[in-house]
Amino acid sequence: MAPPLQVKQLPERIVHATIDGQRVAVPEGTTILAACRSQAAEVPTLCFLETLAPVNVCRACVVEVEGSRALVPACSRPLETDMVVSTRSKRVDKSRRMVLEFLASSVDMSLAGPDVERWMEEYGVDPDRYGPKAAAGADLDARAGRHGPTVGAERATAAQPVKVDNDLYVRDYSRCILCYKCVEACGDQAQHTFALAVAGRGFDAHIATEFEVPLPESACVYCGNCVGVCPTGALMFKSEYDLRQANQWDESRQTVTDTICPYCGVGCTLELHVQDNAIVKVTSPMDHEVTSGHLCIKGRFGFEFVQQRPPAAEPR
Ligand code: SF4
Ligand code: SF4
Ligand code: FES
Repeated sequence: MAPPLQVKQLPERIVHATIDGQRVAVPEGTTILAACRSQAAEVPTLCFLETLAPVNVCRACVVEVEGSRALVPACSRPLETDMVVSTRSKRVDKSRRMVLEFLASSVDMSLAGPDVERWMEEYGVDPDRYGPKAAAGADLDARAGRHGPTVGAERATAAQPVKVDNDLYVRDYSRCILCYKCVEACGDQAQHTFALAVAGRGFDAHIATEFEVPLPESACVYCGNCVGVCPTGALMFKSEYDLRQANQWDESRQTVTDTICPYCGVGCTLELHVQDNAIVKVTSPMDHEVTSGHLCIKGRFGFEFVQQRPPAAEPR
């Protein structure tokens, strides 16, 4: 019998370059962002997520590459041999400031997390220089994709009513930075349901279901994977939204417990976020080799039965 065919692996090629004056060596194909992270050089990202293909839409991650006319998105551009990269040049800082400032001037970024808060500070972001925010409810025609007209010196914002059209999650597009993560997670990067897409063009671009129908009438299967990747709180568990509305959401009182989903044999890891002895939301670790942070409706939202104890089980 002929011996089995030996497939020879080509040796991994190493790329040598310079980042912020330091020589780096990384395997060919490594992005500038990954190379920067290997050097502990921080590069802000908004639309990038390790578990999704880069879509290159926010431009918060731009860096300066010697000899390149335009700033380069670090999240998607591979490092090349002899590249000289600067992560904090004057031009880079100004570009990042503008990106963050434009977003923060029109979108509510108060739930975008501590990193974004820190970058705002670090890059000297001042959204108020575009005028004061219009009072809530000032724009009666507010809806997704329509920035209201400015009233006097007030600035245009994406303010609009929160969409509460089902019991599982809400959509508050006044917090949406159009990072496309929900579209990617709902589409070919995870769920393959394609219930969400970007509609409109330019200033009217916004995330929408097909023909803007309410979620229960859309193709949505309520896996919540869009909620899991949303970085700004624009998509939120209804349980979290209700607690926030009642001023009772308190992460300092919450614990996170890992367990295995009981519904099927796949055995996804669930992280149960618990406040006051009640599950308030469910996530899965991004680095989990089975889920990559994604779940189905049962693992994500099927937790209420745990809290519905029969009267006989209540302590007497
Ligand atoms: S819950 Fe799942 S199916 Fe529904 S819009 Fe979000 S990602 Fe798509
Ligand atoms: S809803 Fe969230 S995930 Fe979707 S584009 Fe807006 S900010 Fe990004
Ligand atoms: S993080 Fe690179 S373009 Fe958004």
